Amino acid sequence: MAATAQAQPNIALVKYWGKRDTRLNLPVTGSLSVTLDALWTRTRIEFDASLRHDELRLNGAEDPATLARASACLDLLRRRAGTAQRARIDTRNNFPTAAGLASSASGFAALVVAADAALGLALDRQTLSMLARRGSGSAARSLFGGFVSMAAGQRDDGADAVAQPLLDAAAWPLAVVVAVTSDHRKQVGSGTGMERSRRTSPFYPAWVDGAAADLAAAQRAVQARDFAALAELSEHNCLKMHAVMQSSRPPLLYWNGATVDCMQRIRALREETGEQVFFTVDAGAQVKAVCTPDAAPRVAAALAELPGVAQVLSSRLGEGARRLDDS
Ligand code: DP6
Repeated sequence: MAATAQAQPNIALVKYWGKRDTRLNLPVTGSLSVTLDALWTRTRIEFDASLRHDELRLNGAEDPATLARASACLDLLRRRAGTAQRARIDTRNNFPTAAGLASSASGFAALVVAADAALGLALDRQTLSMLARRGSGSAARSLFGGFVSMAAGQRDDGADAVAQPLLDAAAWPLAVVVAVTSDHRKQVGSGTGMERSRRTSPFYPAWVDGAAADLAAAQRAVQARDFAALAELSEHNCLKMHAVMQSSRPPLLYWNGATVDCMQRIRALREETGEQVFFTVDAGAQVKAVCTPDAAPRVAAALAELPGVAQVLSSRLGEGARRLDDS
């Protein structure tokens, strides 16, 4: 009754920011992402009849907040397996938590794949994606590799709010350079932030209205491997999301000075030196530059020399969540 799984974080190029149902964690819009390769979460789960509660260690230390969310997600798999057995969960990230990368995406994707294997459920990928979504919306996308598209769905039960693969990493092998800007302010989490935007931003209805067209255009750009179109569309979609965040009450201002410097530098690299690169920013101060692999070292060097950039991480695109055969 034990299994280990690995999943990598994903970066959204068309963003998910808003829920149509908070209980089932249903997104109000679809989204599109790329799954990374170099960063990972590895999770081992062991169901044990002698345990009275789930136990969780994140990078070797107990973490009550993560345990509560993981337990709620595991309950969904336990129900399907017809068991009440509690689990020992050991989960590790190879990337610094301070990197501000959505560890909940790789975390919940690895969790459902490991639990599915440990419980012998053998659920299909769509169902695993749906279960990961219950843990964290973006996690639904980390079930798949390369370019991934996530549907908002229409059903009340959320059975159609799942991700699906759009294009393999090998079919368009882009790179992602993450500029970690030194910022230690406590940020408002995504779930709380989305609800605040839905209730208070005057731009929220326009954001929701434009999402389907952005998603369709991004899907076309990916299918055609049209870098310029994807770059324009992704930056536009990212800045629209931040306009919604910044116009919420109280405002969600995730950027610091270095965030803006990185965005400007990336635009200059593209517009003045012709590099194939564009930026995207999530609910934090870090900047992700999406570029061609040959441009990645130059993009990384240009971002590393900016004041306020503490660290630069580079990754290619990678695979979806999978079981590791150790246990
Ligand atoms: C800005 O998936 O973390 O990164 O479903 O509440 O867990 P919950 O939210 P989460 O939100 C991700 C928001 C984002 C954009 C994106 O990844 O699409």
